[in-house]
Amino acid sequence: MAFPFSFHFLFFLFSFIRPCFSDPRATSAALICSNRTAAPSDRQIFISNFLSAMDAITPQIASRRFAQVIEGTENSSSVFAFGQCMDDLSQSDCELCFAQCKTQIPRCLPFQKLTRGGRNFLDGCYLRYDDFEFFGQDLSPEDKTVCGERDFDGNSTAFKSNAVQVVRNLSVEAPKNNGFFMGFVDGGNSTVYGLAQCWKLVNSSSCRQCLENASSAISSCIPKEEGRVLNAGCYLRYSTQKFYNNSGSGTTGKGHRRRLAIVLAVCSSVLVSLMIIASCVFFGKRELARRENERKQLGALASTVNKSELNFKYETLERATNYFHSSNKLGQGGSGSVYKGILPDGKVVAIKRLFFNTRQWVDEFFNEVNLISGIHHKNLVKLLGCSITGPESLLVYEYVPNKSLHHHIFNVENARLLSWEVRYNIIVGTAEGLAHLHEELDARIIHRDIKLGNVLLDENFTAKIADFGLARLFPEDKTHISTGIAGTLGYMAPEYLVRGKLTEKADVYSFGVLVIEVICGRRNNGYDQEELSILQMVWNLYTLNKLPEAVDPRLGGRFQEEDASRVLCIGLLCTQASAESRPSMPTVVKMLTDNAMIPSPTQPPFLSSNTELPFMRPENHHSRPESSSHSSGNSMTVTLLGGR
Ligand SMILES: *[C@@H]1O[C@H](CO)[C@@H](O)[C@H](O)[C@H]1NC(C)=O
Ligand SMILES: *[C@@H]1O[C@H](CO)[C@@H](O)[C@H](O)[C@H]1NC(C)=O
Ligand SMILES: *[C@@H]1O[C@H](CO)[C@@H](O)[C@H](O)[C@H]1NC(C)=O
Ligand SMILES: *[C@@H]1O[C@H](CO)[C@@H](O)[C@H](O)[C@H]1NC(C)=O
Ligand SMILES: *[C@@H]1O[C@H](CO)[C@@H](O)[C@H](O)[C@H]1NC(C)=O
Ligand SMILES: *[C@@H]1O[C@H](CO)[C@@H](O)[C@H](O)[C@H]1NC(C)=O
Ligand SMILES: *[C@@H]1O[C@H](CO)[C@@H](O)[C@H](O)[C@H]1NC(C)=O
Ligand SMILES: *[C@@H]1O[C@H](CO)[C@@H](O)[C@H](O)[C@H]1NC(C)=O
Ligand SMILES: *[C@@H]1O[C@H](CO)[C@@H](O)[C@H](O)[C@H]1NC(C)=O
Ligand SMILES: *[C@@H]1O[C@H](CO)[C@@H](O)[C@H](O)[C@H]1NC(C)=O
Ligand SMILES: *[C@@H]1O[C@H](CO)[C@@H](O)[C@H](O)[C@H]1NC(C)=O
Repeated sequence: MAFPFSFHFLFFLFSFIRPCFSDPRATSAALICSNRTAAPSDRQIFISNFLSAMDAITPQIASRRFAQVIEGTENSSSVFAFGQCMDDLSQSDCELCFAQCKTQIPRCLPFQKLTRGGRNFLDGCYLRYDDFEFFGQDLSPEDKTVCGERDFDGNSTAFKSNAVQVVRNLSVEAPKNNGFFMGFVDGGNSTVYGLAQCWKLVNSSSCRQCLENASSAISSCIPKEEGRVLNAGCYLRYSTQKFYNNSGSGTTGKGHRRRLAIVLAVCSSVLVSLMIIASCVFFGKRELARRENERKQLGALASTVNKSELNFKYETLERATNYFHSSNKLGQGGSGSVYKGILPDGKVVAIKRLFFNTRQWVDEFFNEVNLISGIHHKNLVKLLGCSITGPESLLVYEYVPNKSLHHHIFNVENARLLSWEVRYNIIVGTAEGLAHLHEELDARIIHRDIKLGNVLLDENFTAKIADFGLARLFPEDKTHISTGIAGTLGYMAPEYLVRGKLTEKADVYSFGVLVIEVICGRRNNGYDQEELSILQMVWNLYTLNKLPEAVDPRLGGRFQEEDASRVLCIGLLCTQASAESRPSMPTVVKMLTDNAMIPSPTQPPFLSSNTELPFMRPENHHSRPESSSHSSGNSMTVTLLGGR
């Protein structure tokens, strides 16, 4: 039985190590956010269209290396999106680069207003979204020229003539060659490499025009070692480094070779093991002893395969959701969209299509899935497994039938009005789930995105927290924060928002907002100046000693005033501006369930601020995904070697 398992595993291994051989060139050239903004009223629709557009792009990139998408029919909030890889990238590098590109572009969605356009230029791929049809546009006012930092150190006369020549040549050749050309000019002891790429959304005459503009714009860079022009219709780059055509093992440096050697060693040792097993099977019982020995050696592999029982086949999940048919879509969140699926054994599950691609850190992802899937609590949605080998990353969760708290509190039509008791139980359940994440696990988990939409309800209206642990999968990635914010204005603790400081107390803050929303039946418009925030309103009533007036009027007074005051008081305690003053989740659970004394909140809740937040500025994000893909490849191989 070891045979098919190992074969499967080998296949697995190959799909993981691919990044070791490649260079997705996912270095950042520029992220350009448009300065037109959306009115607050259609922000939600626009974000939802934006997320759908990002979803729709991935499969197109996977099948034809470029994507062109229009989402939304209302002209005021349609989203147009376009993405493409440079022609010299291999298909797998293309997908890697694009995954990176996609995770960065939400940085254009800021707090106050919604930027209606953004372009992310990486050196291997490009992604743009906007609220108008820019397909066919060759030049635009937002076009940018980005020069390197250092001057060329050498014969500058020769360098200059080489650079001018390569750029001119590229802009002439690319329009004739399907919009792409790369090459170098060397002479006088210096070599200048260059690459020109027109986007598939322009025709060849626009391509020529765009590159002519680019080649004259790029000459302003020329004493510098590096120059790039980032136009609406094309990309042009020169450099003293050979940056293109790095796929394949031919041009690798020392580090690459070592990795290659390790990987080959692992692969061949796996192959050898396979052959030995094959021959054992062939020679039958005579070799029993040796076979026993081999089985021991394969123990490490077997345990990895066992872990992979969490792994679902992409095809299975695709079929379970009827190829992600829109009728099976349950909802959309910051990290991806969720579909209802029925597995071959009849089990109903929820399948989340991740907006973020995990290819680059597959092993970490796997460990996390493993960890999270081990968490059992009545108030936490169970993670059943994942799929990481297909074109997109998927997570499989238990299906929770009765939608989210958001649906029940805010979607007034056809949602059942939740009674006081139900609301109270939901609050207690949510608190218990969070307390479990914070305190009762070996690895403390900070949720980071507690909100009504992430509290699901089962058939008995028991609260189940969704999406926990997801944030751990994207360490220190600000993107997660910004997409979170895009959908979740008003839930973020001040210290997290402003300084990125993250402790359990950030969840406590979000929980406090949730409590107040559930009790008042109103949304907290955290950063909207037009309306008095409900936190402010509840605080005002608290100071007047009239807290019960804040309770959702739809309840028609069917609740105990004392209970209402207690719960709202807890909400206020949790939303105090200073993290130290907020109670921990286990304390909150005690306050809710025992009839314990509730201390008085001493500080008014953190209220809306109109200041722009520094870490949201789009410039200066230089992430290097190559290193992370390499290290994941490395630790993968090291783990295997260690196991043998
Ligand atoms: C949408 O387009 C229609 C016609 O094309 C126009 O009458 C209407 O004002 C537009 N609405 C908005 C919000 O731009
Ligand atoms: C190329 O596209 C531009 C802009 O869309 C258009 O004005 C031009 O007529 C097109 N040229 C050809 C040959 O199709
Ligand atoms: C930004 O907006 C201002 C006016 O609102 C405009 O003058 C300026 O050209 C815009 N800049 C860009 C890069 O679009
Ligand atoms: C550009 O470079 C190619 C290949 O090096 C060469 O064949 C071609 O003649 C050059 N074209 C121009 C306009 O210099
Ligand atoms: C720089 O290169 C040019 C042309 O290749 C050559 O004529 C010149 O002598 C060189 N200068 C130096 C200082 O090497
Ligand atoms: C070419 O460059 C090398 C190293 O950069 C230098 O040692 C050598 O002198 C240069 N030769 C000429 C002819 O400039
Ligand atoms: C390139 O096009 C942009 C946008 O039309 C224009 O502002 C810029 O001056 C042009 N640059 C050159 C060098 O022609
Ligand atoms: C790119 O690499 C391939 C194989 O490694 C080679 O055949 C081709 O000539 C290279 N192209 C350029 C422009 O260097
Ligand atoms: C793998 O799982 C099987 C049953 O699912 C178990 O019998 C076996 O001991 C496991 N092997 C390892 C190495 O964990
Ligand atoms: C919630 O579950 C109850 C049964 O417990 C069911 O009657 C009701 O229709 C469900 N509501 C929604 C919105 O699914
Ligand atoms: C819902 O409540 C009923 C009755 O208490 C119980 O039998 C059932 O198992 C509960 N369902 C879930 C999913 O907990």
